Amino acid sequence: AAPIRYEAERAPATCDGSVDTNHAGYSGTGFCNGRNAVGAALQFTVDAPQAGTATLTVRYANGTTTPRPANLTVNGASAGSSTFAGTGAWATWATATFTVPLNAGSNTVRFAPTTAEGLANIDALDV
Ligand code: GCU
Repeated sequence: AAPIRYEAERAPATCDGSVDTNHAGYSGTGFCNGRNAVGAALQFTVDAPQAGTATLTVRYANGTTTPRPANLTVNGASAGSSTFAGTGAWATWATATFTVPLNAGSNTVRFAPTTAEGLANIDALDV
């Protein structure tokens, strides 16, 4: 099936930071600029038609040259780590993909940064 896009700037997603529009190229009405702090998380709620392994495609920008790592949890359980490499500019968006287990129905997908730089700017999640 075609992926469904979940925008980071609108409910049910929760962005611990600000929803910004100052770097062009985002989809929807903005992007999540998480606070620059450990644990300043972005959480999505996504639906899956059936239980199983799914690919998460995160659209993000990181205008620094330092990767921004985060813990990835799905329905409260660790699903490993994620990292968002530098994209060259804040208006240059790229995708990172992660493979995770999803339940049938509603799932929470949470990215919690592990360094004081916080998350990259995150535009959307495609599932
Ligand atoms: C800059 C940029 C923000 C970004 C921030 C960061 O301030 O304009 O969009 O979120 O750097 O380092 O996280």
